[in-house]
Amino acid sequence: MNFYMAPMEGITNHIYRQAYLHHFGQIDRYFMPFISSLGLNYKEIRDIAPENNQGMDIVPQILTNHADIFLGLTEMFKDLGYREVNLNIGCPSGTVTAKGRGSGFLRFLPELEAFLDEIFEKSVLPVSVKTRIGYEAEEEWPAILELLTRYPMTELIIHPRLRKDLYKGPVRPHLYEMAERRMAAPTEEQSAEFEDLRDKEEMAYGEARQKISPLCYNGDVYTVEDYQTVCNRFPNTDRVMLGRGLIANPGLAGELKGEAPMTRGQLEGFLDELFGGYRGIIPEDKNILYRLLEVWTYLARSFPEGDKLLKKIRKSKSLAEYRSVVAAAVSEWEMI
Ligand SMILES: Cc1cc2nc3c(=O)[nH]c(=O)nc-3n(C[C@H](O)[C@H](O)[C@H](O)COP(=O)(O)O)c2cc1C
Repeated sequence: MNFYMAPMEGITNHIYRQAYLHHFGQIDRYFMPFISSLGLNYKEIRDIAPENNQGMDIVPQILTNHADIFLGLTEMFKDLGYREVNLNIGCPSGTVTAKGRGSGFLRFLPELEAFLDEIFEKSVLPVSVKTRIGYEAEEEWPAILELLTRYPMTELIIHPRLRKDLYKGPVRPHLYEMAERRMAAPTEEQSAEFEDLRDKEEMAYGEARQKISPLCYNGDVYTVEDYQTVCNRFPNTDRVMLGRGLIANPGLAGELKGEAPMTRGQLEGFLDELFGGYRGIIPEDKNILYRLLEVWTYLARSFPEGDKLLKKIRKSKSLAEYRSVVAAAVSEWEMI
């Protein structure tokens, strides 16, 4: 099984990814939070800079419904040395979907088809896709799936929720199953061939991959039990993307690989690097605290009385106060 780090805007930026890599490093492939226009801001430039993404297999993500923007960004990513790009047609945020982007694009299949025709014809890099299973109703999925299976994508990452579900309520595994019935996973021999091709010739790799079009499951994997349920239910899936579960427990991918749970030392080192990393790039203390709070929104769940801890962190008025709240919590921390 391969484990992917989900793109999470505001959380899994380069500071987070590097801190994770240095202290856990159990993820096989990292996906960057989305970029949506050719005019990159300073934060985005820093996030995609190759020097900030050393040592990992990493895929940048694009969110747009304009083929020219997609193709322009793809050229830029190729120039920067990236080997693949990911298209986001899953984002449920209202500001995104209102413009027909992210999962909002799933409502306009003829436009989505024209867009996919153009990007798959002209892209200078292989393309993978991250999608939801519809906007408002499960009945939308068969037509979306049918459309997506026509393109030579390197992989299709499915979060089996509708846009209207946002991130809540149960996932809809039977719709992922529908995709699995259509697309089997590669054999070990085929996987080895792909890797070989990938080193030699990227476009040929993309084409070979699409004959199998491997699926990646994403959604609500928080524990080893959740993971086992996914493995049992989707036997042909050989890749799982971890989002909130990994932020809550950065040792999760290791546990799923059968390694020991995270240790206090790992957690301390990780938090120190995260803190130092943000302090190095963000001038205002309150903005550093804000960034760290985003991580703690999930991480606090791994602590007994996590809600209380989160409140204390939220109330921290200074970096020193944050440090002392966190040091006390980590010193008492035991795996729950
Ligand atoms: C705060 C937040 C930010 C996210 N940002 C992105 C993003 O930039 N691109 C993307 O494709 N998905 C994004 N997602 C969705 C996640 O990648 C993932 O699909 C979702 O959280 C479901 O997986 P999980 O249940 O393992 O968390 C975001 C989710 C959250 C909660």
